[in-house]
Amino acid sequence: MVRVRYLLLLYALFLACKPSFARAPYAMRISCGARDDVHSTPTNTPWNKDFAYTGGIPGNATRPSFISPSLNTLRYFPLSEGPENCYNINRVPRGHYLVRIYFGLVAEPSFDNEPLFDVSIEGTLVYSLQSGWSTQDNERVFVEALIFLKDGTASLCFHSTGHGDPAILAIEILQIGNRAYYFGKGYGQGTIFRTDRRFNCGAEKPKFGADLSADSWGGDRFWNSLPTFGQNSDRVISTDNKIKGTSQSPNFYPEALYQTALISTNSQADLAYTIEVEPTRNYSIWLHFAEIDPSITKANQRVFDILLNGDVAFPDVDIVGMAGDINSALVLNTTVVVSGRTLTITLHPTKGTHAIISAIELFELVLAESKTLPAEIRALRRLKSALGLPLRFGWNGDPCVPEQHPWSGVDCLYDRNISKHAIDGLGLDNQGLRGFLPDDISQLRHLQSINLSGNSISGFIPSSLGTIISMEILDLSFNFFNGSIPESLGQLTSLQRLNLNSNSLKGKVPAALGGRLLHGASFNFTDNAGLCGFPGLPACGRLSIGAKIGIGLSSCVAFVLIVTCFVCWWKRRQSVLRAQRIAARDAPYAKARTHFNRDVQMTRHHNHEHARTAAESGPSLLA
Ligand SMILES: *[C@@H]1O[C@H](CO)[C@@H](O)[C@H](O)[C@H]1NC(C)=O
Ligand SMILES: *[C@@H]1O[C@H](CO)[C@@H](O)[C@H](O)[C@H]1NC(C)=O
Ligand SMILES: *[C@@H]1O[C@H](CO)[C@@H](O)[C@H](O)[C@H]1NC(C)=O
Ligand SMILES: *[C@@H]1O[C@H](CO)[C@@H](O)[C@H](O)[C@H]1NC(C)=O
Ligand SMILES: *[C@@H]1O[C@H](CO)[C@@H](O)[C@H](O)[C@H]1NC(C)=O
Ligand SMILES: *[C@@H]1O[C@H](CO)[C@@H](O)[C@H](O)[C@H]1NC(C)=O
Ligand SMILES: *[C@@H]1O[C@H](CO)[C@@H](O)[C@H](O)[C@H]1NC(C)=O
Repeated sequence: MVRVRYLLLLYALFLACKPSFARAPYAMRISCGARDDVHSTPTNTPWNKDFAYTGGIPGNATRPSFISPSLNTLRYFPLSEGPENCYNINRVPRGHYLVRIYFGLVAEPSFDNEPLFDVSIEGTLVYSLQSGWSTQDNERVFVEALIFLKDGTASLCFHSTGHGDPAILAIEILQIGNRAYYFGKGYGQGTIFRTDRRFNCGAEKPKFGADLSADSWGGDRFWNSLPTFGQNSDRVISTDNKIKGTSQSPNFYPEALYQTALISTNSQADLAYTIEVEPTRNYSIWLHFAEIDPSITKANQRVFDILLNGDVAFPDVDIVGMAGDINSALVLNTTVVVSGRTLTITLHPTKGTHAIISAIELFELVLAESKTLPAEIRALRRLKSALGLPLRFGWNGDPCVPEQHPWSGVDCLYDRNISKHAIDGLGLDNQGLRGFLPDDISQLRHLQSINLSGNSISGFIPSSLGTIISMEILDLSFNFFNGSIPESLGQLTSLQRLNLNSNSLKGKVPAALGGRLLHGASFNFTDNAGLCGFPGLPACGRLSIGAKIGIGLSSCVAFVLIVTCFVCWWKRRQSVLRAQRIAARDAPYAKARTHFNRDVQMTRHHNHEHARTAAESGPSLLA
């Protein structure tokens, strides 16, 4: 019995632990423009049907290069749909990712030009397409970046630069190790690696990780082939021996990478390779070695220096000494600032032997931009829908970053205190906007100016505007705002300019605004339905419309009452006179008395009726 329980406990423990070592990395692959899930040949890789895009048009694709996955569709983004377009993929687990975006070519004769555009990932500009990317066998048919995704989403945006419509063939978001490509100080703290190149030295053909039976935690990296450094400087060497230290955390380099290498033909001669790069950028360089040359059997037999643009980066590299054995992987990495357009890697033998190298990786180190405050992005999105912003505005991705491509009509500031961007200006004047101004525009807490002049916006001016204390300029002129000016605007103590002219506003202008006049603020309230109570505007009547009606009614009642009284008094007087005349002649006294009584009663009855009417309208008189 005890033993059974023990076994059950063990089994439970096994179940609890199993997922941690059996867990596959998160992988999301999207075939852009595809209506159904598809598989690409020859690896039978599954691709999701198209989703998570902000707009654009699905189309048929020509495959720009053999490197591109064999997919037939793409999504392209005409400028009429706005300059900024994105894929926003949600529910991405927090982690470290290899994000790869394949560019597309629309399969239509009218689209013969290759589009050039900018690509940003999580608000950071990572790549600008260079002309010639779609020429035969160019390796630049995708952009790849290694990035930490922390907020559960991956936002990939494509920014038009006026050279054709951005077109995207496919997207891959592949999880890699949390310490992958750890490079020391600054790692993971707002830095992104943009993969510039990967070479497998001595390989005949370019290959993906999947072709090299690599671990999926490696992110299915693409290794281009580099059969020679040129100028007969080297030859290929390869082995079938097992290589130690491969396919290991955190980078899971495939073993095959180290089974081929380039080795210099002349001892003493340098082995050098020059790569074209973007000037004045920081590059991270990863060099791979394994001693697979059978003529080397122990440490200190092959020693060389590694120079980057002439400066020694790694002195006295002894592969066997450093890796601990022959057929054992050695990876070296360093970061350099490259000022010119080229980066030359030189292996300089120091012990009279040949130099050898297995693979080269080059990354551009990009500083990640800080995104805009999420509450402000939400407020702008609601404004976008409340004003029915036309498609041409785009307004996709992040409003402020990349700094090269902010949303049109939005001005940003960087708040150093919280390391976030915020919105300090909205300029949407004369854009033919309709709709209304939502209350939560006040979430744009850093706003200093709003210009919505010359649109067809209607409804009330939200009183929450009065809580944006930094507001200096508010121009809502030439719209259809109605109702009254909210009292809260009087709280805007920095207000310099308030243009509300040409709207349908009425009622009293908040008295507190008068105080701003002393500070040189200017206001324009002309051409409205009826504003009052401000210098330059009519004085407001003290009474409300209700009160005016009340007074009117009460006056009528009083008038009727007075007339009635007068009539009664006159009638009574006539009766009395008549009675006196009759009495003076021959009629008995009693008869005259009866007449007199009846007249008095009638008069009383009348008075009573009128008094009640007056009492009913009484409250409005008081109001
Ligand atoms: C794409 O190609 C298919 C046939 O291959 C065709 O039926 C379809 O209309 C094309 N779509 C577009 C948008 O051109
Ligand atoms: C890269 O180099 C740094 C120091 O230059 C080192 O701390 C780090 O461990 C290296 N990364 C890997 C994965 O070897
Ligand atoms: C390159 O790195 C240096 C030192 O880390 C830094 O000061 C500089 O701003 C970086 N340059 C670029 C273009 O990222
Ligand atoms: C940042 O903080 C300082 C001091 O706390 C303050 O003076 C400054 O106004 C703040 N800046 C912004 C943009 O909020
Ligand atoms: C707002 O835009 C209108 C139209 O473009 C312009 O005439 C006006 O000067 C702007 N208002 C302010 C306060 O700058
Ligand atoms: C103000 O304009 C809105 C939208 O046109 C309308 O629904 C509302 O009745 C108007 N309010 C007043 C007080 O005129
Ligand atoms: C106020 O606005 C009206 C148009 O509605 C314009 O004619 C007038 O010049 C403006 N006044 C000032 C002082 O800007």
